[in-house]
Amino acid sequence: MRIDILSLFPEMFGGVFGASITKRAIEKNILDIAITNPRDFAFNKHNQVDDTPYGGGAGMVMKPEPIFRAIKSVKEKTQIENSRVVIMCPTGKTFNQQKAIELAKYDQLIFICGHYEGYDNRIVQNLADEIISIGDYVLTGGELACMVVVDAVSRMLPGVLGSGESAPTDSFYNGILEYPQYTKPREYHGLKVPEVLLSGDHAKIAKWRRQEALRTTFNNRPDLLKTADLSKEDKIFLAS
Ligand code: ADE
Repeated sequence: MRIDILSLFPEMFGGVFGASITKRAIEKNILDIAITNPRDFAFNKHNQVDDTPYGGGAGMVMKPEPIFRAIKSVKEKTQIENSRVVIMCPTGKTFNQQKAIELAKYDQLIFICGHYEGYDNRIVQNLADEIISIGDYVLTGGELACMVVVDAVSRMLPGVLGSGESAPTDSFYNGILEYPQYTKPREYHGLKVPEVLLSGDHAKIAKWRRQEALRTTFNNRPDLLKTADLSKEDKIFLAS
């Protein structure tokens, strides 16, 4: 997958993609990330990328020309057909695991990271295939939000996760949160690993994990249980 990011602050991306899973994806040539600065496409006196809003009001709005030109340049340079333009904005639809899985199916994602008070709406209406928010809070810009989405999408690309890190056990992957994990030692300062995990009884372990996943979801994210795929046994456990 090719990822293009339009950002007025490319330095914000620093080394974030140079570590861990995104690093591995880049090294394996599964992922290729390039950053474009719309300021390089602002052909006015001071390379101005923002201006005051028509109709008045506080703050500055991102001008359309530099973004339209930057997108055109990226598309002409990369010529990838199965491509999606994503605007990062708190007014977008909230990002989730399902969206990460969906976005991982494209050959190219082009992210537009906003700053200031927002985008001229012609950018939103004419360039974006979708508008994504990462949550109900306002960041100073779309960069951090974009990094979150790129990270979540990258680990869904085929070949990125090793066999020991398989996505099907992730939280949210099957609609509920992940079960709790334990590793060695068996006992640490009197804190013991649950006996069932040491039993070697795989059916019992699977049942315990499912119930603990349901318990965590019930306690922390009961909203997920409304749409999760629950068996009769799950429902009996939740009712008990
Ligand atoms: N830009 C500023 N806040 C944001 C958010 N919550 N999600 C996506 N982009 C943003």
